Amino acid sequence: RDASRGKITWQAPSNIALVKYWGKKEDQIPANPSVSFTLDTSRTTTTLEYAKKEIAGSDADFELYFEGKKKEDFKPKIETFFKRIQKYCPYLTDYQFVISTENSFPHSSGIASSASGMSALALCVMSLERELNPTMTEVFFNKKASFLARLGSGSACRSIEGDLVVWGEHKEIKQSSDLYGIKYPGDVHPVFKGFQDTILLVDKGTKHVSSSVGHNLMHGHPFAEARFAQAYSNLDLLENIFKTGDLKAFIGIVESEALTLHAMMMSSRPYFILMKPNTLKIINKIWEFRETTGLPVCFTLDAGANVHVLYPEKDKGIIFEFIKNELVAYCENEQYLCDRVGKGATR
Ligand code: PMV
Repeated sequence: RDASRGKITWQAPSNIALVKYWGKKEDQIPANPSVSFTLDTSRTTTTLEYAKKEIAGSDADFELYFEGKKKEDFKPKIETFFKRIQKYCPYLTDYQFVISTENSFPHSSGIASSASGMSALALCVMSLERELNPTMTEVFFNKKASFLARLGSGSACRSIEGDLVVWGEHKEIKQSSDLYGIKYPGDVHPVFKGFQDTILLVDKGTKHVSSSVGHNLMHGHPFAEARFAQAYSNLDLLENIFKTGDLKAFIGIVESEALTLHAMMMSSRPYFILMKPNTLKIINKIWEFRETTGLPVCFTLDAGANVHVLYPEKDKGIIFEFIKNELVAYCENEQYLCDRVGKGATR
């Protein structure tokens, strides 16, 4: 082992929330607990090269490469991240870093890379910390990686482990914490194994309202308290649904969560809309298909126009046919990504 120079690579997945995190307190503490499926194929790969400096600086020094090219416009976000975590990782200022990162999904596909990107970087930082402290346990490693990722981007703390992750205190989920995500500790019915997520890229442009602005608009929002309470009780209900595999109830909660997230955007001041006409066309098509076939397919949304279509693996054949024949036409350049529930980050 050599902690004076070296190179670490991590691959971290994106995640899709079933109960949404929307609204936060100081220091990236969520206003309500959330739960997500960890994804599998939508990933960021990040390599951190480190070399010990002769004299420690006052800030973390780094160069940043995105898909092989030097990237200045992502630097401020990472600078902020390093500043926030410095307190918990005092060794960072002893090193000169080169960060190289790339995504498995197409650049500017409208898929946020902040969850996978920040968790991959947090894991690299933790691998360096482990060089300095080789006796650290796996549990500590994962907890602190999630804790650090949260400081980069809230939802990133749910991208360390698979396949269901809870973030935010909930009285029924004993180990849950506002500070980091944990693997969902309850029973999960086999129907959720290999659950599919086909991501329809409705609009690949950058969003006109960022999620940090959106979170802030929940301060003083007229429906904020009711919304936070609803998220809490939806997570409560999901516990039983995860256990029993009641897909009808699952769909009711997941779709309501997606629409409520966007309803919060539409009812904040200033108000805004991130869905596009094709988002609504897809939602209506899914409802129509579900009505006529009785198959358990549903949608969820992130803070954007893209639609995540969720369904069990066993119904993949017929539902994917429907997606290709009926929904892909509403995507920008007919682009979509096939993803599924995954196991978490890997080296
Ligand atoms: O992690 P942030 O601050 O970009 O917030 C993301 C919030 C949503 O994606 C809209 C919901 C969620 O829980 O992932």
